[in-house]
Amino acid sequence: MCGIFGCVGLDESVKAVLSGLRRLEYRGYDSAGVCTFSNDKIIFEKQVGKISTLDEATEKKGMKGNKLALAHTRWATHGKPTKENAHPHLDEKNTLALVHNGIIENHEVLRRDLKAKGVKFLSDTDSEVIAHLIAKDFEEDLLGAVQRSLPLLEGSFAIGVIHEKEPNTIIAFCKDAPLAVGMNEGVTYLSSDPNAFPSEVKNVVFLSNGEIARLQAGVLELFDGDLTPIQRESLIIERHDQVFSKGDYEHYTLKEIDEQPMAIRNALFNRTHYDFGTATLEGLNLSIHELLEVERVLILGCGTSYHAGIIGAMMIEELARVPTQIEIASEYRYSNPIVLPGTLVIAISQSGETADTVAAVRELKTKGAPVLWIGNVQGSTLAREADGALFLRAGPEIGVCSTKAFTNQVVVLSLFALMMGRMRHLSRDEGKAFLDCLMRLPDEVQTILDRKGDIAKLAKKYAKYDNFFFLGRRYMYPVSLEAALKLKEISYINANGYPAGELKHGPIALINESCPTVAFTTNQTTFPKMKSNLQEVKARHGLVLAVSSVDHRALDGVADDLIQVPQTIDPLASVLASVAGQLLAYYIALERGANIDQPRNLAKAVTVE
Ligand code: AGP
Repeated sequence: MCGIFGCVGLDESVKAVLSGLRRLEYRGYDSAGVCTFSNDKIIFEKQVGKISTLDEATEKKGMKGNKLALAHTRWATHGKPTKENAHPHLDEKNTLALVHNGIIENHEVLRRDLKAKGVKFLSDTDSEVIAHLIAKDFEEDLLGAVQRSLPLLEGSFAIGVIHEKEPNTIIAFCKDAPLAVGMNEGVTYLSSDPNAFPSEVKNVVFLSNGEIARLQAGVLELFDGDLTPIQRESLIIERHDQVFSKGDYEHYTLKEIDEQPMAIRNALFNRTHYDFGTATLEGLNLSIHELLEVERVLILGCGTSYHAGIIGAMMIEELARVPTQIEIASEYRYSNPIVLPGTLVIAISQSGETADTVAAVRELKTKGAPVLWIGNVQGSTLAREADGALFLRAGPEIGVCSTKAFTNQVVVLSLFALMMGRMRHLSRDEGKAFLDCLMRLPDEVQTILDRKGDIAKLAKKYAKYDNFFFLGRRYMYPVSLEAALKLKEISYINANGYPAGELKHGPIALINESCPTVAFTTNQTTFPKMKSNLQEVKARHGLVLAVSSVDHRALDGVADDLIQVPQTIDPLASVLASVAGQLLAYYIALERGANIDQPRNLAKAVTVE
């Protein structure tokens, strides 16, 4: 994982790279570092913790950066989050500094060889190996030294390197990890994500796998693995001046939960065709003929995106009667997938950077399947590599815990399912009835948000428990998985999402008075069964907090507490119930004093396998 940001050609380059780095904090935030030159020598600073800590340290040192700086934010893979393990890593004489994103799979062998040659290591990282390798190979130029070292390295990685003999140059390389170069008025920037460039940077060059780049002030040279120059036109990327501000909110997470009505309206805008009871989706890059030829759909995702995918799969089967398989990308990529003709792949990823999803997509593309990406970040790897894209239009999601991106994923998937259904057996009236419910969704979400004080009160009661069950059936099963994930990730409470009917096949052994159950009961078709399952919980002295859309008397005797949500059709009830789950997780985490926006051990985009 980790984020790389560099720049050449600016007087106060340290400030500039730290500001870029802040926009990459979603890629990791356990430690950070920066290097630059002073009197032709490399100087650096590293700090454990957030970029703000590094910022203070460089300020204190008066480290301004002389035309060039290279920085890194880390999410630990090899070695604990310590100052020694933070990047940049330097060679023994401090002549070379390197930042690295990704994993060097053969680092142990390389480390052993280097140690045998007398090299002393200061960190536990795989990254330091690369710094020593390149430094040992340095003869006259950094480009050559990097090029000669690369064949020794196995894995997926991106690097940025500087050397004291070339104080005006950054050398960069990537293999299965993103790197982009942006240029503006004599300044050249390097970043793991083009969205981190200053807003005036519009022209961007993406490095392809195996390419080496030499960056100097206002100059970019690209080379292949043999150092043959490559010509590449820059792309003009759409830049949205994104507002990274919490406003009056204590946390981005709550702000983003509250933004959901607006985000859903954005997701629906110009994508519905009420008179025909259908959806019109730009960016699919598939003709009507190709859509009609889709015989099966395969959905891939990780974490929250996987949960949205389960809901999407159910909706596509229910509305369009197209068989749909849902898979966890990290598992699927190693399964040597069987891809039958007529398969459409939908890869769901908010960031568009999740390494497992990207790898699964690449595998499926080699098998010839068309891939549609559903995601939020323009210019991301999947935005570029997928055959078609459906943007979530959720706006930037800063909180590590995905909230508005999830609900928009479900909404966009519902539009896709509706469109596919209307192209098959679904009638115009059925389509219109579905759209009626979809259009009401933003207001219904708002109703839940308006009553969030009630959920905050319930959170005070439930925050003391260390184990939870989240139960649901049909559409409420993935909602349970998602709500349990929210609680785990931001409050560090052990929470199990489970299909309610499966409880009796084992996990019911865990139910007692100190393990509450959050029950999502708003799937109308399974309500009576769900009620019976909750009775089984009550019979074992389990505390039940039910998310319900029916008259509270219907749950008398089975629910100790209720969160009331508006009633809608089963597929869309998943959105409403999830908002209740998000608020519950948020307020419990708040009660427990957790770091809600940046929970421990996590990163917004998981860019390693
Ligand atoms: C959700 O709250 C998580 N932070 C996480 O599960 C996330 O959804 C997952 O890592 C996938 O990310 P993506 O959507 O960017 O691919």
